[in-house]
Amino acid sequence: MALEKRKLITVGIIGTGGMGTRHAGNIHRLVDGAIVSAVYDTDKENAANAAAICDGAQIFDDPLKLINSSTVDAVLIASPDDTHAKMTLACLHAGKAVLCEKPLATRVEDALEVVRAEMKYGRRLVSVGFMRRFDPQHAAVREAVLSGELGQPLLWKGVHRNASSAYGTSGATVLTNSAGHDMDSARFLLGEEVLEVFVRGIKTRPELHEDTRDLLILNMRMSNDKMAVGEVFVNADYGYEVSAEVVCQYGTAVTQQPDKVLLRHKAQRGFFVSADWLSPFTEAYISEDRAWIESIQTGIVFKGASAWDGYMAMSVTNACIESLHTGKIVPVKTIEKAEMYKL
Ligand SMILES: NC(=O)c1ccc[n+]([C@@H]2O[C@H](COP(=O)([O-])OP(=O)(O)OC[C@H]3O[C@@H](n4cnc5c(N)ncnc54)[C@H](O)[C@@H]3O)[C@@H](O)[C@H]2O)c1
Repeated sequence: MALEKRKLITVGIIGTGGMGTRHAGNIHRLVDGAIVSAVYDTDKENAANAAAICDGAQIFDDPLKLINSSTVDAVLIASPDDTHAKMTLACLHAGKAVLCEKPLATRVEDALEVVRAEMKYGRRLVSVGFMRRFDPQHAAVREAVLSGELGQPLLWKGVHRNASSAYGTSGATVLTNSAGHDMDSARFLLGEEVLEVFVRGIKTRPELHEDTRDLLILNMRMSNDKMAVGEVFVNADYGYEVSAEVVCQYGTAVTQQPDKVLLRHKAQRGFFVSADWLSPFTEAYISEDRAWIESIQTGIVFKGASAWDGYMAMSVTNACIESLHTGKIVPVKTIEKAEMYKL
């Protein structure tokens, strides 16, 4: 469909902190054919700041009123994790397309409720913000794997490091809030489902709370005899870094850092490491927002993560938490994948 023939999509943003404001700016300023028409946040100042960068979008005092407003075609949810499933269900009930930041839910039962509600609705309305799928480096690895030149993919190896996390971050929190990206990366790059998991975690510093598990190793048995192993370290101190490698029969493909400048400074030569996730994935967030708006305008299925992918990440998370606590290999339990998610 030619760009000029497409309908202007009005977007309402729920949760206008760091991520919501980033999406608001992207959609309002960088995505053709879309504007941010409405915002809601429990913090009125955050809502006002986001509205100001969106040419005075309307500030709502109730998220359900925003979702059901005739001035909102589609909704982006970037409020805290434990609000996601409820808001997404409200969007489904209103028949509105929704891009929900990861995780889709904080409990697998709630993610399943979203999937079941969407299956009942009969059409895909829910997208989930696993933005690595839109990162040029990850996309290049996937393309290399799909080309077949490297032979069959065998093993996914991931690294996910954050500089620091809140005091007392439990293994369950790391798995729910951070590691979902890695579970999705393994599924996306190998094109396989996770069948069972084995997780070990340690506390990396004596001064941390005794329940902290800030360095985890995820071992995942994938369908069709593939394997995946990922390090998730949320107190890596030196900065933020993500990488993924797919080992194939005749070679491997690995993401490279986006920075291309060699720095010489203080008797050292090397590369800049980002302090947080925003700059390495700037392009990915913009591409994700563009693809989401385009899917609404054209009716073509969103090529990012679906409600099923969000549910799978939560099912794997659930199994990982059990494995971390019991020290056992745990199978991932899921319902059968419906046809509408096989597109
Ligand atoms: N995809 C990614 O790479 C990525 C990166 C960072 C964060 N996230 C996700 O985005 C979401 C927001 O994270 P953030 O870093 O922007 O956090 P944040 O704390 O900066 O922002 C959260 C905002 O939600 C508001 N809020 C709190 N309760 C609310 C409610 N009930 N309804 C509406 N708004 C409410 C807060 O006032 C705040 O403005 C989280 O779910 C997080 O996991 C995703």
